[in-house]
Amino acid sequence: MVVKAGYDKKNESKINAVEMRLLHSMCGVSRKERCRNSDVRKRCSLKEDVMTRVERAPSNHGGGEITERACYESLERLGLEYIDLYLIHWPGAGSIPAADKRNAELRDSTWGTLVDIYKEGRFKAIGVSNYTERHLKELMAKDYGVSPAVNQVEWHPFYYQPELLKYSQDNDIVLQAYCSLGGTSVNDKSLLNHPTVVNIANKLNVANGQVLLAWALQQGVAIIPKASSVTHIKNNINLNFKIPEEDVIQLNKLSINKKKYAWDPNTVY
Ligand SMILES: NC(=O)c1ccc[n+]([C@@H]2O[C@H](COP(=O)([O-])OP(=O)(O)OC[C@H]3O[C@@H](n4cnc5c(N)ncnc54)[C@H](OP(=O)(O)O)[C@@H]3O)[C@@H](O)[C@H]2O)c1
Repeated sequence: MVVKAGYDKKNESKINAVEMRLLHSMCGVSRKERCRNSDVRKRCSLKEDVMTRVERAPSNHGGGEITERACYESLERLGLEYIDLYLIHWPGAGSIPAADKRNAELRDSTWGTLVDIYKEGRFKAIGVSNYTERHLKELMAKDYGVSPAVNQVEWHPFYYQPELLKYSQDNDIVLQAYCSLGGTSVNDKSLLNHPTVVNIANKLNVANGQVLLAWALQQGVAIIPKASSVTHIKNNINLNFKIPEEDVIQLNKLSINKKKYAWDPNTVY
């Protein structure tokens, strides 16, 4: 699909991440199949072109053997020597309630283990996902010597978080947006079809989705839009236009009700 949409060496930098699902399907490997002894990059002929990103599930929090096993399993299953970016998916552990104070200790130990594997060179970068400013500050206060490269969070005009962005930029953490287009629900297109978004799109002669993606990029936020339609993929890599500042301000104002599409990490201790 990416190739059909015109992916080539010239625009490879625009495709900043490819899901392992896609990588697997390109290799003809089912999700459950282990591809031990195979070099996925070689099989895909994508040795240096594709960035691999993997997220660690909340059930593997706790550091030490549990986390280590999960990390090495990811590498083994994918048949990769290294993973470019490895993220802790959620600040809470799967086995205990969100409000449980042990969550802080468990994610702390998980980070320590990720740092060890990063230092071995098996992860080229490590990061987190769904961390609030509080979770990030707590991690940064510890002396691991390695800060998260990325924090992947819900980020769109209905859920605009300028304080989190400022904290991330001040600390060299890339804020990476998900639900940029309102997520995958087919029943709720209220963000994509919001009159403010439609007006700006008409004015700039671009698609509504392109406005939402350019809005994030203009603020220094990385994007990982998900698309299965060729038209959408083409739109999503053609973002060489600028939204005028007054329109950016209008989009920022849409967060008045703080509408969320995904889970809320603020509940995690
Ligand atoms: N870390 C986390 O907790 C977390 C949570 C949620 C998502 N994610 C990740 O975020 C990435 C993005 O997924 P998402 O759930 O946030 O979805 P999204 O990118 O906000 O939206 C995807 C939906 O938008 C449609 N779409 C794509 N481009 C479009 C365009 N230009 N115009 C109109 N519609 C367009 C797609 O339709 P078609 O398929 O028909 O093209 C699809 O239905 C994924 O990699 C996902 O795994 C992470």
